[in-house]
Amino acid sequence: MGRSDIKTSITMTGTGKHAHLSQWKCPSNIALVKYWGKRDFQKPMNPSLSFVLQNAFTETSVELHKDGNRKVEYFFEGVDSPFGERIETYLNHISGQIHWINKYNFRIYSHNSFPHSAGIASSASSFGAMALCLTELDFIHSGKETHHPEFWQKASELARMGSGSACRSVYPGFSVWGKNQLFESSSDEFAMPLTEGVHPVFSGLRDAILMVDSGAKKVSSSVGHRLMDEHHYQRSRIAQAHENVNELYLALLTGDQEKFISIVENEALSLHAMMMTSNPSFLLLKPNSLELLNRIQHFREKAKIPVCFTIDAGPNIHLLYFQENEPDVKAFIERELLTFCENGKWIDDRINSLPPSPSEGGGEKIGIR
Ligand code: PMV
Repeated sequence: MGRSDIKTSITMTGTGKHAHLSQWKCPSNIALVKYWGKRDFQKPMNPSLSFVLQNAFTETSVELHKDGNRKVEYFFEGVDSPFGERIETYLNHISGQIHWINKYNFRIYSHNSFPHSAGIASSASSFGAMALCLTELDFIHSGKETHHPEFWQKASELARMGSGSACRSVYPGFSVWGKNQLFESSSDEFAMPLTEGVHPVFSGLRDAILMVDSGAKKVSSSVGHRLMDEHHYQRSRIAQAHENVNELYLALLTGDQEKFISIVENEALSLHAMMMTSNPSFLLLKPNSLELLNRIQHFREKAKIPVCFTIDAGPNIHLLYFQENEPDVKAFIERELLTFCENGKWIDDRINSLPPSPSEGGGEKIGIR
């Protein structure tokens, strides 16, 4: 599917049956300040801050048909997929907000640009793309203009209801999700983009995803979030996340790479500390993950090159660095890190560039199949 052939949703009437179609491409994102723990329905216990990736994305097309009984068909990479059940539950959840949902059959096609279990959040890009399609169909259904900031907010909110972190995927660059003191318009319901003032050094942010283990996750994120309900450190974790969002935002504004590094690593390790100290506890880092962490820190000290790591709820490591250091860091990866990766696998990614207008989103329209 081409990126550039912009089209709007269409209505086909040829066979006497109606079908509406919407297609979107949406990136995955990686959190720097981690969302861990929820309350109510898919609302975060603490604010989080992330950026979207460029090469890791999902393309989704949603077709609505008006024939027969309500059903959901979901094809992932061209194959009928059991993920359809999760989509069905999701559609039921959001039918309170989008009333026409129950009137249609859904045929959904989805495809990821990245492999499964690669340490990239596929639920974020999948629900992001899905929510963008549904939002477009909803706006068209109610005769509303899609070129409106409200469009992105709605898409973010619908994405959140599928998978919390997905709400941060519909915007370009960095975004924040969760009510916090720093941003008056921040919300637990949807994310907001950090459109202004981010120092140019961060527009060249790179993410090398070092694959330690592509096996299935030992703890799903929904189980993980629940561990925070009764966690001994719950209060201090929430306070820490607020503080880290504030400090990281300051680092982003001032271009303070040192501060950026110290907060990002503190967050990654705190997430895993929460898992290790919950009841039951989970130890997701592998010996090779630790080896990579040590080597990244050692390289930073020795070569005086600003690199750091972040980690999601798994053993794979995201090595973050800056554009100007690309040749040195890539040589370091080849020389010292690949031997600790599963079959030498890593994914070369970067931040998705900032758009010219704050009213535009990071998810983008894709061509018709
Ligand atoms: O959106 P979920 O429920 O898959 O949770 C994501 C949790 C982390 O990836 C560990 C952190 C985050 O903020 O993305």
